[in-house]
Amino acid sequence: MKHKTLGGLILLALLNTTSVSAQQTNPLLKNEAKITEIIKGMTLEEKVNMLHGKNMFSSAGIERLGIPDLEYADGPFGIREEMEPHSWRGLGWETDKATFFPTGSALAATWCPGMAYAYGKAMAAEAKLRGKDMILGPAMNIQRLPTGGRTYEYLSEDPILSGMLAIGYTKGAQDNDEAVCLKHFALNNQENMRGFVNVNISERAMREIYLTPFEMAVKQANAYGVMAAYNKVWGKWCSENDLLQNAILRNEWGFKGIIISDWGGTHSTVGAAIGGLDVEMPSSTYMGQALIDSVKAGAVPMEVIDSKVRNLLRVRFAVPAVPKDVANTQITSQPAQQKVAYDVASKSVVLLKNEGNLLPFGKKVKTIAVIGHNATRTMALGGVGAGVKALYEITPLQGLQTALKGKVKIKHAVGYEPYPRARRGEQPDLTAWNENAAKLKAEALKAAKGADLVLFVGGDNREVETEGSDRTNIDLPFGQNELIEAIAAVNPNIVSIMVAGGPVDMRRLEKVSKSIVYSWFNGSEGGHALADILTGKIAPSGKLPFTLPVKLEDSPAYALGVYPQKQETESSDVFVDLVNRDNFRAQQKADADYSEDIFVGYRWYTSKNVKTMYPFGHGLSYVPFSFANAKAEVKGQNIEVTFDVKNGGNMTAEQVAQVYIARPDSKVIRPKYELKGFSRVAVNAGDTKTVTITIPMENMRHWNEFQHAWNVEKGKAVIYIGSSSEDLPLKTEITL
Ligand code: BGC
Repeated sequence: MKHKTLGGLILLALLNTTSVSAQQTNPLLKNEAKITEIIKGMTLEEKVNMLHGKNMFSSAGIERLGIPDLEYADGPFGIREEMEPHSWRGLGWETDKATFFPTGSALAATWCPGMAYAYGKAMAAEAKLRGKDMILGPAMNIQRLPTGGRTYEYLSEDPILSGMLAIGYTKGAQDNDEAVCLKHFALNNQENMRGFVNVNISERAMREIYLTPFEMAVKQANAYGVMAAYNKVWGKWCSENDLLQNAILRNEWGFKGIIISDWGGTHSTVGAAIGGLDVEMPSSTYMGQALIDSVKAGAVPMEVIDSKVRNLLRVRFAVPAVPKDVANTQITSQPAQQKVAYDVASKSVVLLKNEGNLLPFGKKVKTIAVIGHNATRTMALGGVGAGVKALYEITPLQGLQTALKGKVKIKHAVGYEPYPRARRGEQPDLTAWNENAAKLKAEALKAAKGADLVLFVGGDNREVETEGSDRTNIDLPFGQNELIEAIAAVNPNIVSIMVAGGPVDMRRLEKVSKSIVYSWFNGSEGGHALADILTGKIAPSGKLPFTLPVKLEDSPAYALGVYPQKQETESSDVFVDLVNRDNFRAQQKADADYSEDIFVGYRWYTSKNVKTMYPFGHGLSYVPFSFANAKAEVKGQNIEVTFDVKNGGNMTAEQVAQVYIARPDSKVIRPKYELKGFSRVAVNAGDTKTVTITIPMENMRHWNEFQHAWNVEKGKAVIYIGSSSEDLPLKTEITL
C-alpha cells in the first residue's frame, strides 16, 4: 500500500465506484432471488446440462421449468445463416438471408460510437427475427499485426477507439434485448497457431492495450457475454485462465454474465470449471458427464457449478426469449437495418489521397473505365469462419451503375482474377491463370485508353483475409501492381479503390494513383455508399482505424522479428476436425512474444519516427477543415478539451477531431502521445463549430508494473488536436 501514489489511490477509488454503480444498474442482477430459488430445486445433472453446447449454436435451458435454451448467432457483422444442429453446414433456408453489415474495421473507420450503437441495434433486430439471444460479437481484439487474418473483423489498433465502439455496439444490442458476446478474451491477435499459441506479454501492455477495450465494454456497457479465446496467455489456456477470467474479468471488473469458450477451445474439465469458464461450446467433451463426475469426486465444488448456472440464468432472464413460432417467420434482412448498413458504410470510406482534387468527379467526366475484380466481387462470404448469407450486396460496379445511369458511360473490365485455389501449403498452378491474365490485361487497357477516368477497384478479398490463418504478406495480390502500372501508361487519371479489411502495401499503387480510397468489406450497401462518395453526393469522412505502413517490415512485431514465430508443425489447425483438434493442439508449442510492448500501431511509428504510408486516424474530405482556439481544463474527474472546427469548403461535411495527449514529465516510458478522445462533427459549408471533448481521467491512467495497479501521474499534459495521429496542428497544455 505504501507504494501507491495519491493519483493511483484516487483512481482506484474511482474505478471501484464505477463498477459499483454499474452493478446497481446492471439488468443482469434483477432476478437474483428468483435464481437462487431455481438453483435450489435443480439436480446436478440439470445444472451441468446447461454448461455445454446443446447444438452447434445453443446451450440448454431448463425444460422442466419452461426456461428456454440460449440461442447464439455469429456475429459479428451480420446474423449467420441457420446451420444443421451438429455441423457447419447451412440448412439452405430462404428466410435466413440477412443484412451484411460493414465488417469491424469499416465500422471502426467511422470513429463514431453512435454509429456503433445503431449497428448493435440493427444486429439485435435481425437476431430477434431469427430467435437468437446472443450475438457472438463484437470481435474486438487489437489489430496487432498488419497480416492478422481477422483484422477485417476486429476494430482497431487503439484501445480507446476499440473500447468506445464496443460500448456503442454493446449498448445498441442490449438496449434492444439482445445479448452480446465480447470476443476473443484475450490476446487472440494472430490466426496462425491461434489454437495453441502462448502469449508472453508484459502486464502493462496487456492491461493498457489489449484488455482495456474489454474492460470498457464490461464496466461501461454491462456486456452480458464474453468468449474465451483459443490461445494461451502466460502459459494458461484462456478458457481456464484464472487470472483473466476470475481475477480480472469477474472480481476486478465486476462482470456478471457468462463466459463461453470459443468453438472447440475448452481443454479440461476441472481446469475450465475452476478457471472460470461457464459454457463449453459447442460440445460436451469436458463440461458434460466429465463435469458431473468431477463434482461427485469432490474435485469441483457444487458452489462453482451453481455460480455458473446463476450466470446463465441472469443472461436468460435479461434477454426475453423469442417464441419458436414467432422466430423465422420473415426474411432476416429488413429495410431499417439495410439503412444502417448504408449509413455506416457511407461514414467509413476513407479518402487517403486526392491529388488535383480528382474526386469528386464532376460533369466533365463522360466515360469511366471501372477495372478490377473487386468491382463485381461480393464480400459477405468467403474464406474460413463467420460470414453472412446476404439478402443482397451492392458491389462497387452496381453502385456506380445506379448512380451514373444516363449520365456517364461506364466501361467495365475485370482486369485481373484471383489465383485458383490450391491445397494448403502448396502453390497454385498458374499456367491457365497466366494465359488468362494477358487477355484480361489487354481488355483493361482498352477500356482505360479512351476513358476520362479510371476507377481501379482492387485490394484483397475474403479468401485472402480469413479466419484461421494470417496473410504471409500484405502485398496486393493477383498481379494488381503490374496491371495498374500498365494502365497508368495509357491513362494517368486513376482513382484506386482498395476493397480490403486490413492494410495493403501501396508503394507501387500510390505512385500511379492520383486519388486513393479505402472502402473496406463494406456490407450490403457498400456499393451505393462508395458511389455517393465518388460522385460527391456526400463528402468522405472515414478515418483509418489502423496504420497503413510503408512496408510490412516497418510494423512493430515484424521490425523486432517476433512474428511470424518459428513453427514446430502446421501453421494453422483449421483443417483439423473438432474432435481431433484438441489432441492436435495439446501437442503443439509456440510462443508469441509481444516484445514491442505498449508500442502497438501508431504508438510505434510516432515514437520511433518510422515513416508511414498513411497514419492512424488519417482520412481526407472534399472540404478543407481547420482547427483553432484550443482550451483545456480539468473538471471534476474529466478533462474537457474545447476547440473550433471550421469547414472552409462549399459543402456540408463531417470531420473526426482527434485528441492525443503526451506526458512529457512522466516517470515511465510512454509513447510520443496517445489517443485519449475524439468526436465526429458535421459542419455546414463555411461554418465553424465549437467542439468539446470530455476525456475521463480514467483514460489518463497507466499500469504501474511495480504496484500492479493503475496510476494517474500528476504533472504536465500536452494536448494535441487534429485530424490524424500525424496531423495535429493545435496544441495546449494543462497540469494534472
Ligand atoms: C471463431 C468465433 C466464432 C465461433 C463460432 C470460432 O472459430 O473463432 O469467433 O464465434 O467459431 O462460429
